[in-house]
Amino acid sequence: MRYVEITEYGAPDKLKLRSRTEGLVPGSRQVLVEVKAASYNPVDTELRKGSFDPISARSFPQSQGQDWSGIVIAVGGGVSEWKIGDEVYGCQPAAEIHDDGSWAEKMRVDVEHMAKKPVNLSWEEAAGLPLVGMTALQALRDEGGLKPDKNMKVFINGASGGVGHTAVQIARSLGAAHIVGTASLQNHPLLKQLGVDEALDYRTFDPEHYQGKFDIFFDAAAKMDYPSVEHLLTEEGTYIRTRPSVKTAAAQAMTKAASMMGFEKRAKVIWMTPNTADLTYLTSLVQQGKLNVLIAETYPLEKYRQFVEAGEASNKAGKYILQMH
Ligand SMILES: NC(=O)c1ccc[n+]([C@@H]2O[C@H](COP(=O)([O-])OP(=O)(O)OC[C@H]3O[C@@H](n4cnc5c(N)ncnc54)[C@H](OP(=O)(O)O)[C@@H]3O)[C@@H](O)[C@H]2O)c1
Repeated sequence: MRYVEITEYGAPDKLKLRSRTEGLVPGSRQVLVEVKAASYNPVDTELRKGSFDPISARSFPQSQGQDWSGIVIAVGGGVSEWKIGDEVYGCQPAAEIHDDGSWAEKMRVDVEHMAKKPVNLSWEEAAGLPLVGMTALQALRDEGGLKPDKNMKVFINGASGGVGHTAVQIARSLGAAHIVGTASLQNHPLLKQLGVDEALDYRTFDPEHYQGKFDIFFDAAAKMDYPSVEHLLTEEGTYIRTRPSVKTAAAQAMTKAASMMGFEKRAKVIWMTPNTADLTYLTSLVQQGKLNVLIAETYPLEKYRQFVEAGEASNKAGKYILQMH
């Protein structure tokens, strides 16, 4: 079976396509999956560059890729919920892809990081959903407290991206009363199609002079810090960012301390945790026709380097996909 790995950190030329013949055996509470498709996420680049190494101190070689869709081909001990032939999808946690990344023809998966694949999505669409969909869901529902019937207003910065385009649809499905989204001008028709009420061009958007208050400001693109948009939050509003930053860390500490004195605005950073319950929730949204996945481009496994370079350039809206078969 073929798979992509790195033996040192660096640019995409460090990615190598390898092959191994020895059988992969699923451990306890694991299944072995024949991967059909996988997707690119910006965190893959961070892992390849070693950005998390001071925390994780990982050894080489390291396999690559988190999102995937595929078929169960073997079942490990203690697994009663899955059987050979099940069509599934999931997301490998960043800390666990050392030996089992998804840019591979086969991979072992812990059962708590997978769920039934939505029947109405292709392998490619399903592979593009887990990481971005769970990030958007956990940010809006868990960190932002978005609930139906609360008439909440939501701002999504970077609404045409992987995280952003699922966030718009999930916000709509969770009953957001009004959604404002930013993207470059060419993606505004997409934003309208996704369900945004007002589309703004982030190149000309000036938060200082914008009139409006939001219950949730979700910085999916991680391009605006809390201090520049605090005035756009309602008194109980929450700012959520997808990447840590010095300014947001300071705001997190400050708003947490101030909450003891009744100040309710909060600044938060989302760190997505893969889990079966949230994947199953996404599956049901897709099957109810409330969530779709936009594909930017698809590459065969042999073109893994072009796939990564295209994902990094991100010139088109939607997800970049690697096809295994
Ligand atoms: N913490 C977590 O658990 C977690 C999980 C997933 C992702 N992330 C992070 O979230 C970020 C977004 O990921 P993604 O997969 O959505 O990336 P992506 O698919 O490349 O999307 C990037 C988005 O940002 C927009 N954008 C570019 N420059 C911008 C600017 N100056 N201001 C506002 N928007 C801008 C793009 O708009 P146009 O294409 O219209 O120009 C696009 O909508 C990445 O930094 C990623 O590492 C974090």
